[in-house]
Amino acid sequence: MFTVNEIQGFVNQGIQNLIKANEANKLHAPVEYALSAGGKRLRPILALLVYNMFSDTMPTSVLHPALGLEVYHNFTLVHDDVMDNSDTRRNRPAVHKKWNVNTAILAGDAMYVLAYKYICRCSPDILPRVLQSFNKAAEWVCEGQQMDINFEKQAFLTEEDYLDMISRKTGALLACSFELGGLCAEVDPQTVEHLYKAGMSLGLAFQIRDDYLDVYGDSGVLGKPIGADIENNKKTWLLTYAMRNATGDDLARLNALLADKTIPDRTEQVKALYDKLEVDKIAQQTITSYVDTALEYLEKPEIPQARTGTLTEFIKGLTNRNR
Ligand code: IPE
Ligand code: IPE
Ligand code: MG
Ligand code: MG
Ligand code: MG
Repeated sequence: MFTVNEIQGFVNQGIQNLIKANEANKLHAPVEYALSAGGKRLRPILALLVYNMFSDTMPTSVLHPALGLEVYHNFTLVHDDVMDNSDTRRNRPAVHKKWNVNTAILAGDAMYVLAYKYICRCSPDILPRVLQSFNKAAEWVCEGQQMDINFEKQAFLTEEDYLDMISRKTGALLACSFELGGLCAEVDPQTVEHLYKAGMSLGLAFQIRDDYLDVYGDSGVLGKPIGADIENNKKTWLLTYAMRNATGDDLARLNALLADKTIPDRTEQVKALYDKLEVDKIAQQTITSYVDTALEYLEKPEIPQARTGTLTEFIKGLTNRNR
C-alpha cells in the first residue's frame, strides 16, 4: 500500500505534468495559475486512497481520472469566486482579479474540458460508469451553486434545504471521488454504494467546516478572506442554525442585520450572536457526527478492513482542519 505522502507526491507530480502537457492552450496562463496555487488536492487524494484499499498499483488509468477531479474542482473555484465576489484564493488574487471576469469564465470553461479529457483516461471497460458518476456530480455542483445563490435572498431555511444545497455543491464531488476510486478498482456495486455514501457524508462535514472557518478561521492559513459569507448573507450552517435557534431580541437583531448590509460592525454583531448561541460548538459536533458516519460506511464487510487505516486516519484529520 502507498502512504498518504506517496499519494500526495503522485498527485502533485501529476498536476505538474498535466500543466506542462497543456502549455499550447491559449488559456494556459490563467489555467496554470488556478491549478498551481497549491490547494489541498483533497479530491484526487481521496480517490487514490480509496483505490489503494483494493490495489497496490498506481497506473495512469487511475491517476489521470483522479487528476481530472482536481482540475474540475479548480474550475468550480474560479467560477465560484466570480459568483461570490471573492477576491482572494489560496493567498493570491482570484483569477478574475488577476485577469478579469471574462478570462475567469473562459479559463473555467477550458478547465472543465480538460477535466473531462483526464476523467476519460480510465480503463475503457469502466468509462460509461465513470462518466455516469462524474456527470451526476458535475450536474449537482451546478444545481448546488445555483441554490447557494438563490438562498442569499431567502429569509429562512430549513436544515433540510441547507443539507440539500451542500450535498450538491460540495458533497457530490467528494462522493464521486470515493466512487471513482471504487470503480477504478472494479469493486462490486454494493461496495461502490457504500463508498459513495462515505464520500457524501465526508463532503457534508467538509462544507460545514468550510462554513465554520469563514468565521472562526485564520485568513492567512485558509488563504481566503474571513467573514465573506456573512457579508454575502450566505446561508451557511452557522447562519441557518442561528436563524432556527435564536429567540426574542436575538432573533429580531439577527433579522435586522440580515436585512441591512450597511449596518456598521455587522460581521462582528453576527459573530457575537453566534458566540452567544454557541454555534461554533454545535457546528463542530455536527462535523464530527458526519465524519463518524463516513467512517461507519468504511466498516462495511465488503471493504477490506485490514486496509482501511490510511484512509480513515486521513479522514479523521479533516475534522479539525484549519485550511
Ligand atoms: C473549497 O475547497 C471549496 C469547498 C468545496 C468548500 P477546498 O477547501 O478543497 O479548496 P482547496 O482546493 O484546498 O484550495
Ligand atoms: C464552494 O463553496 C463550493 C464549490 C462548489 C466551489 P464556497 O463558496 O463556500 O467555497 P469557498 O469558501 O469560496 O472556497
Ligand atoms: Mg460559493
Ligand atoms: Mg466561495
Ligand atoms: Mg466557503
